[in-house]
Amino acid sequence: MLNKERVRQYWEAEPAGFRYGQSAEAEVLCRATEWQRYALEPYIPGFAEFGRYAGKRVLEIGVGLGVDFSQFVRHAAVAVGIDLTVAGAELTRQRLGLMQGEANHYGLSRADAESLPFRDDSFDLVYSWGVLHHSPDTEAAFAEAFRVLKPGGTLKAMIYHLCSWTVLMVWVRYALLRGRPFLGARECISRHLESPGTKAYTLREAERMAGRTGLRDVQIFTKLGPGDLLTIRASKRYEGKPYRLVWALYPRWLVRFMGDRFGLYLLMTANKPTSACAP
Ligand SMILES: C[S@@+](CC[C@H](N)C(=O)[O-])C[C@H]1O[C@@H](n2cnc3c(N)ncnc32)[C@H](O)[C@@H]1O
Repeated sequence: MLNKERVRQYWEAEPAGFRYGQSAEAEVLCRATEWQRYALEPYIPGFAEFGRYAGKRVLEIGVGLGVDFSQFVRHAAVAVGIDLTVAGAELTRQRLGLMQGEANHYGLSRADAESLPFRDDSFDLVYSWGVLHHSPDTEAAFAEAFRVLKPGGTLKAMIYHLCSWTVLMVWVRYALLRGRPFLGARECISRHLESPGTKAYTLREAERMAGRTGLRDVQIFTKLGPGDLLTIRASKRYEGKPYRLVWALYPRWLVRFMGDRFGLYLLMTANKPTSACAP
């Protein structure tokens, strides 16, 4: 099976963040996922600057449950969202349907980040949170984001950071505790962190990848995510007794004390140059 098809099947079965709030009531679920997202990841609004793009053309790649997408729409951006899954596009459509009249200018479709169905130079902002590292050819997805940005447009993307607590924990669990300490961290996360083939980058790798696609003024910083702090509710895979013990004893104070440096989230802002120049 194509790697991308396996990625799609994974997210189709577990749309991002769904386990944060599983209520039968769609409206309650929508509110819960929004509240919990920004409680757990309070830096998202500051990074995304939802209010800054009123009247501007915004593309979100990988909308998932559509929480951030609905913020762009609410703040009057002319927003277009895509996701590899039917579930992502449908759940986001459902969320916007509940916004009663607030949501006017938006479009949603199922599409692939590596082959965007949009013309060159179409968007003022391309936004993507926690998506591009799941796509088999992440660099191709960056190149597509660059292509559809207008000259002077901005890319804001969060991808995973290799030198992070989360990656270390995955390595301890699947390499060290299985007696295979020589199994690399990249291999471990590719097999065991969310959808098959997940990647993570050092700061330098991320900067170089963005530069190769032609992006300029690349700014990068890292943030602790709920996975680094284990403030996230455990997925089914991690529900057993030993994991409950890990969750209870985990030294969150130490992780916080060390700061954002070893956070899983690598936040990147970069621009497409106004004048054409070869990457
Ligand atoms: C971890 S979720 C993030 C969703 C959302 N951005 C959020 O922050 O909750 C990853 C999402 O990326 C989507 N995705 C993965 N590969 C993709 C691709 N090649 N093109 C478009 N979407 C993709 C998945 O379907 C899934 O909805």
